[in-house]
Amino acid sequence: MEPNFQAPGQVKAAPRKIILDCDPGHDDAVALLLAHGNPDIELLAVTTVVGNQTLEKVTRNALAVGTIAGITGVPFAAGCPRPLVRSIETAPDIHGDSGMDGPALPESTIELDPRHAVDLIIDTVMAHEPGTVTLVPTAGLTNIAMAARKEPRIVERVKEVVLMGGGYHVGNWSAVAEFNIIIDPEAAHIVFNEKWPVVMVGLDLTHQALATPDVVEKIAAIGTKPAKFVTELMDFFAHTYKDAQGFDYPPVHDPCAVAYVIDPSIVSTRKVPVNIELTGTLTLGMTVADFRAPAPADCHTSVAVDLDHARFWDLVTDALVRIGEPGAGDVDNKGNASDVDLNEGAQLTAGGVK
Ligand code: BDR
Ligand code: CA
Repeated sequence: MEPNFQAPGQVKAAPRKIILDCDPGHDDAVALLLAHGNPDIELLAVTTVVGNQTLEKVTRNALAVGTIAGITGVPFAAGCPRPLVRSIETAPDIHGDSGMDGPALPESTIELDPRHAVDLIIDTVMAHEPGTVTLVPTAGLTNIAMAARKEPRIVERVKEVVLMGGGYHVGNWSAVAEFNIIIDPEAAHIVFNEKWPVVMVGLDLTHQALATPDVVEKIAAIGTKPAKFVTELMDFFAHTYKDAQGFDYPPVHDPCAVAYVIDPSIVSTRKVPVNIELTGTLTLGMTVADFRAPAPADCHTSVAVDLDHARFWDLVTDALVRIGEPGAGDVDNKGNASDVDLNEGAQLTAGGVK
């Protein structure tokens, strides 16, 4: 399905090509829907890695989200089932036993690509012009580190790595470390120390991406099944973030990285050297950002600082509107005709919900 369209007379810049490496995950699901529904993104591949839950569970979840969104023609591949060095650590307190508890998940209509995610990442980057593919990891960095080690030429071919992870002043899995980094700090160390441009969209930024009641209402008003799916995800996420971390509204981390790729003016960044703590007893997995002096000329890392909350959520709602009701008017593989199921009063437009 092709949700992207353009107003007459508009000159369209080429969409940004991305590979989404994820562990769905409530917020990964929103990231995938945003990437699929936004006209400025060309989703080249979706890869999964152990993280919020086991590889098997997050892969099943990714395929379910792809099915809900009506994604076709995009390869999905499963990657590493455990971190490089450490034991597996998952996040059931936040994402539930399935990794994406809350909504009922459909059986997938998408077939998994037979390649290992690491090979799919390498093949995809090598098949495109240098400097055109952005990697968007929203999970532990195991697959990305493995890809960089297996085919080092991807490092200079990738446009940039825009990752959700870390935080320069805040942690969530320890006092100073964030989940995606601490679950595989060695992989993070590899990714941050390769010389590709790295944009760290960390907790300092994503804790601004709260799914406030007005946001959830706007999404609910879209009235389609993908939109309802998102509100059910947010409902579960709100409860676990309240119980586990005391948030009034849940921070929806992962789509912030996609939003930055779509429109960097929504996410301000600052260039600063960042490295990963590998030996600290209290600080393992900390993303140590050195703000003491202006960043040196060869600094290749930057950190996300401020989010435009309204424009960020407009992007998400707009993507959901564009996705619409996948398969509406079609006959699905069970022989049922599907309908667009708009709530009364909600009106779907290219610019959002009125
Ligand atoms: C990150 O950890 C995961 O639980 C979320 O999906 C997000 O990628 C936030 O720390
Ligand atoms: Ca994630």
